[in-house]
Amino acid sequence: MTLRIAPSVLSADLGRLREQVDAAVAGGAEWIHVDVMDGRFVPNLTFGAPLIRSLRKITDVPLDVHLMVIEPERYIAEYADAGANVFTFHPEATVHAHRHLQEIRHRGMQAGLALNPSTPLSAVEEIVGNLDLLLVMAVNPGFGGQSYLPASTDKIRRARELLDRRRSPAALEVDGGITQETIRDAWRAGADTFVAGNAVFGAKDPGAAVRALLKQCTEQV
Ligand code: DX5
Ligand code: ZN
Repeated sequence: MTLRIAPSVLSADLGRLREQVDAAVAGGAEWIHVDVMDGRFVPNLTFGAPLIRSLRKITDVPLDVHLMVIEPERYIAEYADAGANVFTFHPEATVHAHRHLQEIRHRGMQAGLALNPSTPLSAVEEIVGNLDLLLVMAVNPGFGGQSYLPASTDKIRRARELLDRRRSPAALEVDGGITQETIRDAWRAGADTFVAGNAVFGAKDPGAAVRALLKQCTEQV
């Protein structure tokens, strides 16, 4: 069964990026999550292709790129070339999601869709077969360190049902507010991939933080 932690470099100390990423990976992180924000789709501005290229040199683990930008399709080719492995965008930010999912796969990346807390699961129902990943946002995107919205657990459960019903092998990722206190609920609801920013890179020892998150899911209680 898949259980994967994807630490978000949004909360990392960029001056010590290599050290921090290495520590998280040594602790068992299987992906590194990169939050791209454009200051329009979300009220914050972060990074783009240059950081993806730098990370590609630092680590071999898959780079899980989450675009919180208007018209994400403009970046598909550039990010593929920069070394992105998973390209996830918001259907709320574009018109032709189906076409873009095809283009992402065509460029050799895994294709993901992310849903804001206010966006119903029905937004992806017609295109489940085109997804390698479904991302349920457990906060309103834009910033790290926010609190997990409790209603997310039920949405994850319904997302799990939808993927199972359609026999989709897509990963089910949850992003926002994942901590040692919240991860277990999301895991039990059926998520298999967990973004964690503050909980990993806000900790003194990112490796130990990843191990602690994994343990919350695997330990019998
Ligand atoms: C939120 C981003 C998240 C963020 C998560 O807009 O998409 O990936 O980095 O941060 P934490 O885990 O601190 O809530
Ligand atoms: Zn994210």
